[in-house]
Amino acid sequence: MTETTAEAVAGPGANPRDEFGRALRDLRISVTDRCNFRCPYCMPEEIFDEAFPFQKRGEILRFEEIVRLARLFASLGVEKLRLTGGEPLLRAQLPRLIEELVGLDGIRDVALTTNAVLLPRHADALKAAGLHRVTISLDALDPEVFGRMSGGRGDPEQVFDGIAAAERASLTPIKINCVVQRATNEDQIVPLARRFHGTGHILRFIEYMDVGTTNSWDLSQVVPASEILERIGEAFAIEPVDPNYAGEVARRYRYSDGGGEIGIIASVSQPFCGGCTRARISADGKLFTCLFGSEGRDLREPLREGASDEALLERIAGTWLRRRDRYSEERAERAPARARRKVEMFQIGG
Ligand code: GTP
Ligand code: 5AD
Ligand code: SF4
Ligand code: SF4
Repeated sequence: MTETTAEAVAGPGANPRDEFGRALRDLRISVTDRCNFRCPYCMPEEIFDEAFPFQKRGEILRFEEIVRLARLFASLGVEKLRLTGGEPLLRAQLPRLIEELVGLDGIRDVALTTNAVLLPRHADALKAAGLHRVTISLDALDPEVFGRMSGGRGDPEQVFDGIAAAERASLTPIKINCVVQRATNEDQIVPLARRFHGTGHILRFIEYMDVGTTNSWDLSQVVPASEILERIGEAFAIEPVDPNYAGEVARRYRYSDGGGEIGIIASVSQPFCGGCTRARISADGKLFTCLFGSEGRDLREPLREGASDEALLERIAGTWLRRRDRYSEERAERAPARARRKVEMFQIGG
């Protein structure tokens, strides 16, 4: 079944399934490895200082290259695109890219993950370019805790200005992502829930994950979904809601009083690899089929050496057909995880 010729994978409506039968539906594209924050769980500033060798201009994919790849991925069944970073709003002229992506055949959802600091400046242009919605990272309401989570960059008021700009521009539904770390921001769970209750924004709590190799993760820093729910349950009555689509990452809950919806992303305590339809491209053009991958499959070199669409499709679909990734499930099966080299979050954007 793992025939990987272009003919086998690139016909009309071709839709490769990996070794576990999972289709390819989502593509997450990192447009820069740079960020204006230094969240210790992602880009600790001791490592990501001025001397850090971030990718240079010629190393990151050009917009035409990204659009070409996105078109090819769409022909293989991708329907959802998400732009990530680093901080994607640091990439110059991003609306130009978005304009092209939203027009691709088969693409029905284009979202952006951002820390929101630059949103007041860019929200209108993003909307005008056709961006559908934004997901905003916010780990704390308390400025001091926020500072600890962001490496001393930005403050909650800037994020709220960004959220307000996204509201005005109708980049909705707005999702707010909070990574929860034991003894760092766990006391922010209920205040965040209160703040977003009744706003129409969907607050999601993410279990802290062992992404990359620089954040010295250990299991004791994870606040499991069950505990997050318990804490929210002490403040509000909540009830589970069915997923929006098969394989949705967040488990959904609603406030019984009609105050809206929240989500929990329990990739450590309740991994969801079975329904994982996500591929990721790093800013320098490597294809990763798992957030916890170590070696990406290079797409930039063939792109720049004049590869045909068929050759690129063969490379992409061939990688997907051979995919056996289920890192989070394996971690759960054999915790503690074996240490090994892994791609960093700032390279593939979460
Ligand atoms: P939508 O449902 O399209 O809004 O997006 P999403 O739920 O995939 O959300 P988002 O892209 O905001 O992902 C939120 C966080 O969930 C990411 O930052 C990661 O921390 C985690 N996450 C997303 N996808 C995966 C995945 O495939 N594996 C793991 N382990 N974690 C993931
Ligand atoms: N565990 C869980 N989520 C993470 N993110 C970054 N690093 C981690 C981690 N180690 C989240 C960010 C943001 C998105 C890009 O990924 O908070 O919401
Ligand atoms: Fe930047 Fe997001 Fe990483 Fe924080 S988590 S350093 S905002 S890319
Ligand atoms: Fe997908 Fe890898 Fe995340 Fe599992 S750990 S859900 S395979 S990205």
